[in-house]
Amino acid sequence: MSLPKHVRIVEVGPRDGLQNESQPISVADKVRLIDDLSAAGLSYIEAGSFVSPKWVPQMAGSSEVFAQIQQLPGVTYAALTPNLKGFEAALAAGVKEIAVFAAASEAFSQKNINCSISQSLERFVPVLDAAKQQGIRVRGYVSCVLGCPYEGDVAPEQVAGVAKELLAMGCYEISLGDTIGSGTAGATRRLIEVVGREIPRSQLAGHFHDTYGQALTNIYASLLEGISVFDSSIAGLGGCPYAKGATGNVASEDVLYLLNGLGIETGIDLQKLMLAGQHICTALGRESGARVSRALASQSGDHRTAINALRN
Ligand code: HMG
Ligand code: MG
Repeated sequence: MSLPKHVRIVEVGPRDGLQNESQPISVADKVRLIDDLSAAGLSYIEAGSFVSPKWVPQMAGSSEVFAQIQQLPGVTYAALTPNLKGFEAALAAGVKEIAVFAAASEAFSQKNINCSISQSLERFVPVLDAAKQQGIRVRGYVSCVLGCPYEGDVAPEQVAGVAKELLAMGCYEISLGDTIGSGTAGATRRLIEVVGREIPRSQLAGHFHDTYGQALTNIYASLLEGISVFDSSIAGLGGCPYAKGATGNVASEDVLYLLNGLGIETGIDLQKLMLAGQHICTALGRESGARVSRALASQSGDHRTAINALRN
C-alpha cells in the first residue's frame, strides 16, 4: 500500500503528557504550552481532561486552561471525559470536542476507570447522546491494544470488538492505544488487519507509547497499513498513571521528523514545535524526550541549519 500524502497529528502532550508529571504544573504553563503548539501549526490538541481530581490531580484546572487558551480558528481543542459528570464540566468550559476512553483489557479498565469494559461502554452511551445533542464530536480510545500491564497479551479480536462498539455508539474515530508501548511492527500490522475488517482504516488512529522504543517503527508499519492519524506528545512527555513504568507517547518532534523525511504533509513547523518542547521542558525542569530535539541541540549552528533546511 502507498503512503498517505497527508497525516493529522493529534497532540496529546497537554493531557497524556502532563497527567503523569509528578510535580505541580501551573495553569499558566499549561496555557503557554497549548498556545505554543497551535502556533507551531498543530490542528488538533488534546488540552485537558475532566476526570476525578482524586484520580488524576494534574488534570484539575482543565476548565481554567480552556478559558485562558487562545483558541485559533481551524484548531480543535479536545478534552477527555469518562462519564456524564465529566461531559457536563467540559460543556460548561466551552469544550467543542471530547474523547471517551475504554480498554481492551478488563483489569486495566478496572484500574483506570473503576469499572468493567461493558460498564464503561454503557456509561458512554448517555455521554455520546448528550454530545450529539450539543453538536460535539466524540473521539474514542481503546487502551491496551497491544498488551496490558496486568493481563499480558490482548487478542486483536477483543480490541476490534470494543472499537466496533465505540464506533456504533457514534465515535467518529477510534484511537488504538498501545498504553504500555510493548507492541512491535508485526503485531501492529496484525492488529490493524483484524480491526480493519470491522472499521474503515480512515476512521482509525494510532496512539503509541514509546516504552520499548518501538513507537516510530509502529507508526511506519501503520502508515503502510493505510493509517493516517497519529497521536503524539510534545517532548515525549508523560505516561499513564495506571500503567506503571509506561513512558510517554512517542515525541511529536520525532514523528514530524519521520513524516517530513517521507514527504508527508502535516502543516506543522518543526522549529516552532521544538521551541514548544523547549519551553515546557524548561518549565518542568526536565530534559526533552524528543531524540530530534536532543540531537539538534547538541550540534553546531552550521550543521543544525543544514539539517533543518533538509528536514523542514
Ligand atoms: P469512581 O470513584 O468510580 O467514580 O471513579 P464515582 O462515580 O463513584 O464518583 C466518585 C467521586 O468522583 C465523586 O466525588 C464524584 O463526584 C467524583 P465525591 O462524592 O467522592 O467527592 N467524580 C468526578 N469528579 C470530577 N470529574 C468527573 C468525575 N466523575 C466522578 N468526571 C472515574 C470513576 C472514571 C471518575 C475515575 O476512575 C477517573 O476519574 N478516572 C480517570 C482515569 C484517567 O484519567 N486516566 C488517564 C487517562 S486514560 C489514558 O491515559 C489512556 C489513553 O492515553 C490511551 C492509551 O494510552 O491507551 C487515553
Ligand atoms: Mg496514552
